[in-house]
Amino acid sequence: MEQYIIKGGNPLVGEVEISGAKNAALGILAAAIMTDDTVLIENLPDVRDINVLLEAMESIGVRVERLTRHAVMLNSAQIGDVRVDYEHIKRIRGSYYLIGALLGKYKRAEVLLPGGCNIGSRPIDLHIKGFKALGAKVTIRNGFIIAKADHLHGSHIFLDTVSVGATINIMTAAAMAEGYTIIENCAREPHVVDVANFLNSMGANIKGAGTDVIRIRGVQRLHRTEYSVIPDQIEAGTFMFAAAATKGDVMVKNVIPKHLEATTAKLLEIGCEVEEFDSAVRVVAAKRLCSTNVKTLPYPGYPTDMQPQIGVTLALARGTSIVTESIFENRFKYMDELARMGADVRVEGNTAIITGVEKLSGACVSAPDLRAGAALVIAALAAEGVTVVDDIVYIQRGYEEFDVKLRSLGAEIEKVSNEKEALKFRLRCG
Ligand code: UD1
Repeated sequence: MEQYIIKGGNPLVGEVEISGAKNAALGILAAAIMTDDTVLIENLPDVRDINVLLEAMESIGVRVERLTRHAVMLNSAQIGDVRVDYEHIKRIRGSYYLIGALLGKYKRAEVLLPGGCNIGSRPIDLHIKGFKALGAKVTIRNGFIIAKADHLHGSHIFLDTVSVGATINIMTAAAMAEGYTIIENCAREPHVVDVANFLNSMGANIKGAGTDVIRIRGVQRLHRTEYSVIPDQIEAGTFMFAAAATKGDVMVKNVIPKHLEATTAKLLEIGCEVEEFDSAVRVVAAKRLCSTNVKTLPYPGYPTDMQPQIGVTLALARGTSIVTESIFENRFKYMDELARMGADVRVEGNTAIITGVEKLSGACVSAPDLRAGAALVIAALAAEGVTVVDDIVYIQRGYEEFDVKLRSLGAEIEKVSNEKEALKFRLRCG
């Protein structure tokens, strides 16, 4: 089993290129099956979740031609089956986007229920409510979610909770429903806008993505397109906090600074300097950081996917910080691991109380999920001594070449798969 082994203490310095947004790419790839024409998608991140989704799409007859590591050509004219029972699909969350896409195009979908990170109960009732409002019958049988409609029609849908997944999924199905759909209380995340832009580039008629009301006039046919996925704001934010926690100086390139505003605001609050350019941000942390309070919220609020990264950074800041998680109930599992490294942390319900310590020290820790795993790597980079991070398969789901990118910034990090390799690293790093 692969692990990261990390010798902490080096400030991260240099430039790093951010990959395409995983969560946007999942919605876009699924939506691409809605045309029989060939679609080119660029700036895909080469990460496990994306590759699993592409394999699942191949398993139902989508022709996937990989042009480069980051570009694919897709043709879905020969889809022979609307039943997606590719076993690995259970491991990813974004598999549920195939339901909206297949239902929109073929009026029928059978997809294994989604998995993904264990960060809370993660219901899909709002997705189902939306599909039903569009005229589908939805049942769950033998681990599959089955949606069927004689015909899909427009509807007026109010989402009880702001949900990224439900917004994208319902919008995707409605793009090919007959008539007019209004979705209210939508998620406004950049990846919702990116999927809407992608669908519009195929001939859909979607307005209002990025606001809390999306209006969709259904079309009968979608056509070919070429599209480039937006940069990953969570990967970017992760490197911004890695710079902050290690007292570094990092230029994070290929980003849309507007998407990073909540992260930038918190970094400024805790004492970093942040400089914005057209498609880059530079984070400099010259002195010891100070505490702050933060609450996760839907976009444009502070993202739940950036909560562990700020949590580990605050573990080294002067003073006491309060971090409130309002989206997923199970996102503080990394706190126990951080405590092993000497952090002073206490979790009460959906709140973590973090009193900054002068130093963290290396330990053996396990990545409890994707973002928390990346955050523990940040903690390790800032800690004294050697840390081993286990279960990095979670991190590999969403970060392309995390270790390679960190090494290019001066980090001492190695991916190892056995004791011998780990020992070699320890001998080399002294
Ligand atoms: C997506 C992201 C995930 C991110 C999250 C919030 C993907 C693949 N994953 O997850 O990285 O952490 O957005 O930004 O894009 N909810 C319901 N019923 C539903 C759907 C959601 O009650 O049918 C609740 C959830 O339990 C949660 C909240 O709504 O409390 C937000 O979840 P949602 O935005 O749907 O998250 P995901 O789309 O699963």
